[in-house]
Amino acid sequence: MKQEIISANGAYSRLDVWFRKKKCIMLVCGKSIEKQNIFAYIQQLPDRFGIRIVRFSDFEPNPRYESVVNGVRIFRRESCEAIVAIGGGSAMDVAKCIKLYSTLQGDGKNGEWLTQVVVPNHIPFLAMPTTAGTGSEATRFSVIYYENKKQSVTDDSCLPETVLMDSNVLRTLPDYQKKSTMMDALCHAIESYWSVNSTKESRAYSKDAIQTIMKQMNAYLANTDEGNAAMLMAAHYAGKAINITQTTAGHAMCYKITSMFGCAHGHATALCNKVLYPWMVENVDRCTDPRGIAYLKNILNEIADALGCRDARSGGEKLAKTVDALGFEVPIASTEQYEELKSSVNPVRLKNHPILLDEETIDKLYHMILR
Ligand SMILES: [Fe+2]
Repeated sequence: MKQEIISANGAYSRLDVWFRKKKCIMLVCGKSIEKQNIFAYIQQLPDRFGIRIVRFSDFEPNPRYESVVNGVRIFRRESCEAIVAIGGGSAMDVAKCIKLYSTLQGDGKNGEWLTQVVVPNHIPFLAMPTTAGTGSEATRFSVIYYENKKQSVTDDSCLPETVLMDSNVLRTLPDYQKKSTMMDALCHAIESYWSVNSTKESRAYSKDAIQTIMKQMNAYLANTDEGNAAMLMAAHYAGKAINITQTTAGHAMCYKITSMFGCAHGHATALCNKVLYPWMVENVDRCTDPRGIAYLKNILNEIADALGCRDARSGGEKLAKTVDALGFEVPIASTEQYEELKSSVNPVRLKNHPILLDEETIDKLYHMILR
């Protein structure tokens, strides 16, 4: 599906066409949306176009299935006909699931929608990311939790058909969040590039994202409009890349670091990939990609090229230098924590990785990643 991208910088008149003929929309957003310019625009819609806005913010980070069930109940009760999602990963995840589940049978009790086959629907869906990182607005994946277990809900029809890129929202993001979300996007692009599932199309998205992130990093961190707008698009392209390939070992290994040490997702995944990349360069002989060792070597060189380096070895050094310059703290792990970490990695994600990683290797890598 081709998504329509609407770029804005605090001015939203181009959205009028999308809203004008709708009677009732559900707005899925976090609790801090009042600070955003887009909120003032949305608040005027009832007067301007006679639209009813049903706001849904009753969900937490790492949203639960029950929150989605509640959202669907309200969506149906209020006869909403479209969904607008504004936020980071959690708001997107909830909105995607509300869209997918709202046309299924039953009321969703006892996890029933998790086992039903999703029937694609055409409920209009507009998404506006509030960080340049997850790329969730470009992917068919969403994650929710049922009985404390992670559930991946995946379907093409949960992709928003319209995306609003508002660089204005990045201006007020705290520095650490700006840095970590940017690194999440960079790691999506890099992992997708070397994924065994990569295609010509996905690699083109990855390359574009890596080059833009490296070129615009300083402008984005200095909070210029140009830097912010470019980083939003880079994160979107990195999202398009992982929509095709999914992520690999860097992401598989970062989740436990995030929950164990409380660091941001992008911070943790940056720490993992800055070690993984140079390690892979030295261990290409363990390649599992059916396209072969020579292919993988070439890919690792292409990633380096996108990072602005002449070969994979200097590419690895540049990535490490880039991460170090951001000042991310490296957590200290105890012997018990290392034990827990090495068995925490999702084997499905490892299957996407082009180099064989057994438990012993994963343990060794964690000892290189952490202190
Ligand atoms: Fe990520």
